[in-house]
Amino acid sequence: MLVVYFSSATENTRRFVDKLGLPSARIPLRKNDEPLIVNEPYVLVCPTYGGGASVSRENSRPVPGQVIRFLNNEHNRGLIRAVISGGNSNFGADFGKAGDVISAKCKVPYVYRFELLGTDEDVKICREGLLANATALGLEAAA
Ligand SMILES: Cc1cc2nc3c(=O)[nH]c(=O)nc-3n(C[C@H](O)[C@H](O)[C@H](O)COP(=O)(O)O)c2cc1C
Repeated sequence: MLVVYFSSATENTRRFVDKLGLPSARIPLRKNDEPLIVNEPYVLVCPTYGGGASVSRENSRPVPGQVIRFLNNEHNRGLIRAVISGGNSNFGADFGKAGDVISAKCKVPYVYRFELLGTDEDVKICREGLLANATALGLEAAA
């Protein structure tokens, strides 16, 4: 079971993932950083950065560019098994929208949505859900 995540300088997603207590790998923030290459199935945890485009009617880019670059690598994309998205419910219909986009593009289930760094209950539900469904989701590394 591997958790791959992206988190900006505010580090909300990093704090949520740390609380899950599962093996994790971080998608780098800066373009010049060494790109992340994964070698086992993973669940992707991604914050939403669209800026509430459904309301403003401006172009929506809810998935951070760093995550798009990571998923543009065919090898990395082939190993995604599920997505979890972070966001802020102030964005209404766009709350956690990155998860909808990634789920549709990569054809994987959108299994959980949380706000900011997540509550203790979010962490519990998410951790237990991932562990209980690891086999069904295909999150077990090949032997
Ligand atoms: C410029 C900007 C745009 C955002 N747009 C959305 C959005 O469309 N939907 C949403 O649910 N959250 C949105 N958020 C909230 C972030 O997803 C949330 O703060 C998240 O916890 C950030 O994670 P990070 O600190 O790991 O980067 C936005 C935040 C910023 C700063």
